Amino acid sequence: MNTKVISFTNNKGGSGKTTTCSNVAYCLMERGSKVLVIDGDMQMNLSLSFLSEESVMEHDSSKDNIYHMLSGDRKISDIIVPSFAEGLDVIPSSVRLSEVEELLYGKDGKKDILSGCIKSLIKRGEYDYILIDVPPTLGLWVKNILHITDHVIIPVEASPWGLFGLANMVSYINQEKKSNKGLDILGIVLTKVNTRKNYYKDTKDYLNSIDEIRVFESIIRTDSTIEWAQDNSRPVTAYRKSARSAGEYEALTDEIIESM
Ligand SMILES: Nc1ncnc2c1ncn2[C@@H]1O[C@H](COP(=O)(O)OP(=O)(O)OP(=O)(O)O)[C@@H](O)[C@H]1O
Ligand SMILES: [Mg+2]
Repeated sequence: MNTKVISFTNNKGGSGKTTTCSNVAYCLMERGSKVLVIDGDMQMNLSLSFLSEESVMEHDSSKDNIYHMLSGDRKISDIIVPSFAEGLDVIPSSVRLSEVEELLYGKDGKKDILSGCIKSLIKRGEYDYILIDVPPTLGLWVKNILHITDHVIIPVEASPWGLFGLANMVSYINQEKKSNKGLDILGIVLTKVNTRKNYYKDTKDYLNSIDEIRVFESIIRTDSTIEWAQDNSRPVTAYRKSARSAGEYEALTDEIIESM
């Protein structure tokens, strides 16, 4: 099987990108796939979902992280870290990613720096899936990510402001199709849903009315177990299988596999 690259993108902050990325990664690994997750956000939340705080800080200070791969100080093979789960590896982030726009801007082929770093890994087919957690921004770094992405998944928070800016972001992604023909938006997943609130229904109806974009049937409702899991450096699907949100992420993973 060819390696599939899936990115979790939304420039709206707090929409559930990292939580969705970590849980889908874990579910794919449990189904027998070899998975690499890349933490593309200086907040380092994805790294903290799979590695201890101590280990994340150590990779930050020792330069064994994504920033130093982009700067050319490290090779990809130097910075891949096994997670607590066999078959699931992590490329940790760094606070230095706050400088990533300047770093990329100063390089030749500025949109293809990430692609240059991981192309050979993709070609070797070592992983079935590479999942990338994208920061809540739009810029050169996000373009680098979109340039190697096959499928974009957009987590949208079912809240009054959850849809604000969505159309702009969708057209931003679509523009990148000019340089990456394989890029497609796989779908929108509604997260942090409270089914008793009216705006959940309004959000769902509005999204379903847009023909070009699929909205996954599976929704992720609010669940405090997600926060307990994060406190234990685990996705909820690894922390408590019986949690409602763990079941919802399993169902979402089924849909994702079917739709690729
Ligand atoms: N289904 C859920 N139920 C309850 N809390 C959730 C749920 N999903 C996410 N959260 C919480 O909401 C916050 C934002 O989630 P997350 O970090 O996944 O979003 P994000 O889009 O990655 O944010 P950012 O844009 O800052 O990177 C986190 O504190 C997380 O614990
Ligand atoms: Mg995040």
